[in-house]
Amino acid sequence: MQNWTPESWQGKTALQQPDYPDKKAVEAAAARLKTYPPLVFAGEARRLKEALGRVASGHAFLLQGGDCAESFAEFHPDNIRDTFRVILQMAVVLTFGAGTPVVKVGRMAGQFAKPRSEPVETADGRSLPSYKGDIINGIDFDEKTRAPDPERMIHAYNQSAATLNLLRAFAQGGYADLHKVHRWTLNFMEKSPAGAKYRDLADRLAETLEFMEACGLTSGNVAALRETDFFTSHEALLLPYEQALTRIDSITGDWYDVSAHMLWIGERTRQPDGAHVEYLRGVKNPIGLKCGPAMGESDVLRLIDILDPANEPGRLTLIARMGSDKVADRLPALLRATKREGRSAIWATDPMHGNTVKTAAGVKTRPFDRIMGEVRSFFSICAAEGVHAGGVHLELTGRDVTECLGGAVAISESNLGDRYDTHCDPRLNASQAIELAFALAEYLKAERLAKKARAREKTAAAQ
Ligand code: PEP
Ligand code: CO
Repeated sequence: MQNWTPESWQGKTALQQPDYPDKKAVEAAAARLKTYPPLVFAGEARRLKEALGRVASGHAFLLQGGDCAESFAEFHPDNIRDTFRVILQMAVVLTFGAGTPVVKVGRMAGQFAKPRSEPVETADGRSLPSYKGDIINGIDFDEKTRAPDPERMIHAYNQSAATLNLLRAFAQGGYADLHKVHRWTLNFMEKSPAGAKYRDLADRLAETLEFMEACGLTSGNVAALRETDFFTSHEALLLPYEQALTRIDSITGDWYDVSAHMLWIGERTRQPDGAHVEYLRGVKNPIGLKCGPAMGESDVLRLIDILDPANEPGRLTLIARMGSDKVADRLPALLRATKREGRSAIWATDPMHGNTVKTAAGVKTRPFDRIMGEVRSFFSICAAEGVHAGGVHLELTGRDVTECLGGAVAISESNLGDRYDTHCDPRLNASQAIELAFALAEYLKAERLAKKARAREKTAAAQ
């Protein structure tokens, strides 16, 4: 990697960084973090890259999701379990319903830093720094809480370590055993149509497992039935934190960001000559790049040249977040450009960030119909362009929140206030997430069947 070091980003413009009042305290916190153990291992990041390589070649699907922003106050094993569980349920719906292997990546164990459109927030005639995520400042609107505090980086590191520990235990310690597929059902979902559909699928899966058991394939002798791979990711926004967790892998001699398996660059910090692109081009992790409606063909190709010069399958995931009303206009040209240039970067959809609206009462929400609409358009555009619809990037929680409007158990504007708990953007609740998973399974199945039909036609034509 030419002219790159973990600190070379400092020579570039770094947008969205906090203005820490005490620079010495930032250095002291970073120096401490530098001595702390890695949160993930390079070998795990390589394993994720291999799995994403299978997505790049059209043989698997990326399911990435979790909180918009994790918070210190809501740090609780039940919250971690519920998010893990709903992702697991969605993965079962996709794997069993569409016959597609699913690569599971949480927006968890490190998703703390938030880019904001406005650097300051004004209320009651007072202006304070905007809330930028618990790793930077606190959400309460007072001067002390809103002042960026570098000690929060240490707190975030510790919370990430404990979250990862639990996630590893859930993934590998028996909780994710497919024989428990019924037990993952969340109580409040009992009455929802998505819950009923899930129960039906779980019944069929249980029958299949019984059949397999009769053939001698059990959790005892097939690890894939007993445990699962679960990876972590976050937006690599706060560069002093990421830099402090950048390490050389002793096996390969390469640099890795050991704060998560996968890191992504947000829509607001993707300038080709900016600090975030500079930092992430040098680490070997799989990385993501958000692509909003302003992204042009030459922009995306230039960024791919910088971030994935070797055209390595699984290295780069392009996460389109256009908005349901813009995706048909903006996305096709980008897909054509990457296909024409033979780029192996994955195309995924984030149907959340282009579909945020404010209600008349000023509450930030996302209509479920628009979210579904962007996903549907994404799949049909990919099919029309002959590109694999590689994945979905969601803000969701396993809890019964009321943050996004609509869904089968319809949430109306008057319900939004009931359980509106997010620290930043509105998330899908478990029922909405499962409902979306069933739609995804249909689209993926259609893609797979179309591919098979094409292969058959090709063979017939060759005979
Ligand atoms: C996010 O993923 O939380 C986010 C801020 O997204 P974007 O950069 O696409 O706006
Ligand atoms: Co968000």
